[in-house]
Amino acid sequence: MAGSPVVLGIESSCDETGAGLVRDGVLLGHAVASSMDEHARFGGVVPEIAARAHVHAVAPVVQEALDRAGLVLADIGAVAVTAGPGLSGALQVGVAAAKSYAYALGVPLYGVHHLAGHVAAATLDGGPLPDPCIVLIVSGGHTSLLLVRDLARDPIVHLGDTLDDAAGECFDKVARILHLPYPGGPAIDRAARDGDPEAVRLPRPLSGPDDPPYAFSFSGLKTAAARWVEGQRSAGAEPHVPDAAAALQEAIADTLTRKAVRACTDHGIDTLVVVGGVAANSRIRALTEQRCAAAGITLRVPALRLCTDNGAMIAAIGDLLVRSGARPAPLDLSIDPSAPLEYAALSPRVRDRVA
Ligand code: KG4
Ligand code: ZN
Repeated sequence: MAGSPVVLGIESSCDETGAGLVRDGVLLGHAVASSMDEHARFGGVVPEIAARAHVHAVAPVVQEALDRAGLVLADIGAVAVTAGPGLSGALQVGVAAAKSYAYALGVPLYGVHHLAGHVAAATLDGGPLPDPCIVLIVSGGHTSLLLVRDLARDPIVHLGDTLDDAAGECFDKVARILHLPYPGGPAIDRAARDGDPEAVRLPRPLSGPDDPPYAFSFSGLKTAAARWVEGQRSAGAEPHVPDAAAALQEAIADTLTRKAVRACTDHGIDTLVVVGGVAANSRIRALTEQRCAAAGITLRVPALRLCTDNGAMIAAIGDLLVRSGARPAPLDLSIDPSAPLEYAALSPRVRDRVA
């Protein structure tokens, strides 16, 4: 095939095994398998179970992505893989698989940052992101406001991060307190449809005039919600789950969108990109849309299926790296379970840091 190579992306940092194929910014096909059901009865992801599920799923998922794209293994021209952050056993499986494909096919390998993948997911719908743009990343483990220039080349500037829990963690933990199923975010989203967000008063963390404008904190909000639930139960009443869900969702959506819009206006940047699993939340999507429209900001949010973990986003960032002429990773690329988000590529930086 002429032009840029087809990039295979492999994702295995948590409980989703994803494979995607992207060429020149175009998604050709992808597939995702999830071990979520196997973790549900434990109320959270069990790393050993996740790692074993990846072992079983990775080759079939790559094959399914190829089938959907109408391609064969020999069409792959480069391989990108999530090298961190994530669960170490889970990451090992994806990286080992990616190395095998790259070695067997004789194509370059790229180790990428999972969160940069989430950002790149936004390019698969609306094309390249403008330089600069403001990015709000909201996932199970991270909540950050970023200033992003050229995603494949430039360092990523953190305007603010969460000081404690991530937004997704707050959804998941409160859902557990409310006896909603795992994962909690989608369960809260569903329950909130029948609830009144005004029925329970919950705080808007770090939103005062003297608070850091772009930093987040969700552990106090989680505690406030837990106290309300305990108060109801000790008074002999079961908490009204839809009201609690709606109030929590509103507090998180209000806080996230207010700070994200402020980051855009303060920096004179007219594009906001919202990515990560929590960007699938219906209220966060609706409120961001409304506030961006009011402030004259263009909003970019990936399609629902590309918000939660998948391989297409890893292929997307791999494709950007390939086209920007980035140096491939060595075949002894190592995982970095707690990799900070500094650059999209984790390799060869991982080696540089160790050397
Ligand atoms: O990005 P992601 O798939 O995995 C990580 O990299 O962490 O995000 C998972 C998080 C979980 O906390 C999950 O509860 C949350 O995204 N999530 C949602 C929704 N869908 C997924 N949170 C709120 N509303 C949703 N609809
Ligand atoms: Zn993720």
